[in-house]
Amino acid sequence: MAENSLRLGLNIDHVATVRNARGGAYPDPVRAAKLAEDAGVDGITAHLREDRRHIMDADIEGLMQALTVPLNFEMAATEEMQKIALRHRPHAVCIVPEKREERTTEGGLDVAREENKLAHFIAPLRDAGCRISIFVAADQRQVEAAHRIGADIVELHVGAYCDAHADGHNDLRDEELERLREMSIYAHSLGLEVHAGHGLTYGCVKPIAAFPEVRELNIGHFLIGEAIFLGLAPAVHEMRRLMDEVRNE
Ligand code: PXP
Repeated sequence: MAENSLRLGLNIDHVATVRNARGGAYPDPVRAAKLAEDAGVDGITAHLREDRRHIMDADIEGLMQALTVPLNFEMAATEEMQKIALRHRPHAVCIVPEKREERTTEGGLDVAREENKLAHFIAPLRDAGCRISIFVAADQRQVEAAHRIGADIVELHVGAYCDAHADGHNDLRDEELERLREMSIYAHSLGLEVHAGHGLTYGCVKPIAAFPEVRELNIGHFLIGEAIFLGLAPAVHEMRRLMDEVRNE
């Protein structure tokens, strides 16, 4: 892949959210993933939560069988998830913090606090051939800790920037963007691959996509929502167009 290219990963969790609202089999997240693959996404992300509120174990099984693009398997650092990841050996695992009462992944992982535990936790996953990604806030301590434990990738949590953008808090938005810019440069300088995600929309994606150090964006909720209006393939194409537009400027 060219040095300047920016991959788009689609997070399909919320196809499963809609399915689970009624139980049963549809809409099927694996079908959505295949459709997105045909529409040109570079990867699929799915978060198997402890409470199985969206993606379920059988979805991971189905994705592993059906996908030709890489699966980025989001998971908490628990023994149960480690076993599941070792069974499936996805292309990448992205370690995220998880609280049962939260609506979504509200912050980055406190890698600095749990450095030793995480270093041991990721070792067998790396040995199994999975790339290791850590979801972190744009915070130098966390990026350094992710580097020390031997992560391949940091995914920067861009939620605070996206929220400030949506709320029209322009000073805060610019501050968050600056922090993200500095941390992308810093993480890249350490040799980490830099990804970004959480809360990205057509309206706020471009400044993040413009960071040359960022190699992949993982986007879910907004695109699945847009798919209701446009269809999944056109929704993906529009995001791709915006990303390419700014990347090729
Ligand atoms: N990246 C990570 C690590 C996430 O936890 C999430 C949300 O599950 C996303 C990307 C996608 O965020 P959103 O659904 O807000 O686009």
